[in-house]
Amino acid sequence: MKKLQFGLSGMGRIGKVHLQNVQQHSATVSIKGVYPANIKAKKWVEEQGVNHFYETFEDLVNDPEIDAVIIASPTAFHAEQIILAAQAGKALFAEKPIDLDREKVTKVLQVLQQTHVPFFLGFNRRFDPSIEQIKKNILNGHVGTPEIIKITSRDPAPPPLTYIPSSGGLFLDMAIHDFDMACHLMDQKVTEVYSTASVFGDPNIGKLGDIDTAVTTLTFENGAIAVIDNSRHAAYGYDQRIEVFGSKGLCGMDNHRINQSFLANAKGMHQPVPPNFFIERYAASYAKEMTLFVEHLLHKTKPSVGAIAGLRALDLALAAQQSVAEKKAITVSI
Ligand SMILES: NC(=O)c1ccc[n+]([C@@H]2O[C@H](COP(=O)([O-])OP(=O)(O)OC[C@H]3O[C@@H](n4cnc5c(N)ncnc54)[C@H](O)[C@@H]3O)[C@@H](O)[C@H]2O)c1
Repeated sequence: MKKLQFGLSGMGRIGKVHLQNVQQHSATVSIKGVYPANIKAKKWVEEQGVNHFYETFEDLVNDPEIDAVIIASPTAFHAEQIILAAQAGKALFAEKPIDLDREKVTKVLQVLQQTHVPFFLGFNRRFDPSIEQIKKNILNGHVGTPEIIKITSRDPAPPPLTYIPSSGGLFLDMAIHDFDMACHLMDQKVTEVYSTASVFGDPNIGKLGDIDTAVTTLTFENGAIAVIDNSRHAAYGYDQRIEVFGSKGLCGMDNHRINQSFLANAKGMHQPVPPNFFIERYAASYAKEMTLFVEHLLHKTKPSVGAIAGLRALDLALAAQQSVAEKKAITVSI
């Protein structure tokens, strides 16, 4: 059988993760090339055995040998690149968020509906083994009806100040994963969003119009409530915890540790810190989402997480921003 040929756009932090994960499927997929040519990571890419670089994104999507494109470019380029690739008939794996602008996301949805190309959106956390188990516990009725979901999602350090203006801010860039997670676990419409936010770390974050601390409550159709707590600077590392409290019990996940050792002495019970950041903590989920993407292409099945999930998470992030700006709860039907 002919191997699938992939092209990758964007070779920064997450593009490199995807390249290495695609290479785990060398029996069925080969990476034909990377865009752009002029990147810091060029030598690294060549060391991975990929030697073809496209001068323009159009060269990539118009290459008849390419079956699928992975979009790991900066957020500002996602929408136009998804549209060009879809119109060229390529299957797509795209990083979140699709775009920061709702109209552009709607346009992307229209093009995807017209072109019918397979589209997988990188809400990777859904494929983390612990989170998959939480979802199974809910679906199997082990906690009864979920009533309260608590998501703690705190980064170890804020991104560089230069990243902030184009990132969309904490809600659209970071908490968007948590909004998707709350909806994924609850599987219900959200009827109200309330967020409150502050800046506790670098005051320049505030000067750029962003925040570094936020608590959001999402109220679901049946009255269940999600509480999402975000910070950009957890002193002890990347803090990722979930609790689902239901009518019959509780399930969730605690932080992973860099190793599973512990030390007990007269001063207390000590454990190592959590993994440094998302690349380490969610390594298994990035590998699994790529495996699923490849399987969807090989077996012609529909990805479970697509552009509609992206629009829903964006709408919740925009409502959270509005809630902070207007200091009130926002009624929604998302
Ligand atoms: N799912 C996740 O957990 C996760 C984690 C990190 C980043 N992301 C998303 O992935 C995207 C990339 O983030 P990152 O942290 O890897 O960024 P980054 O800044 O580390 O890397 C971006 C790369 O894109 C390249 N680039 C610049 N302009 C480009 C263009 N027009 N087309 C293609 N590539 C271009 C840059 O040279 C760089 O190599 C962002 O949208 C971000 O939100 C998702």
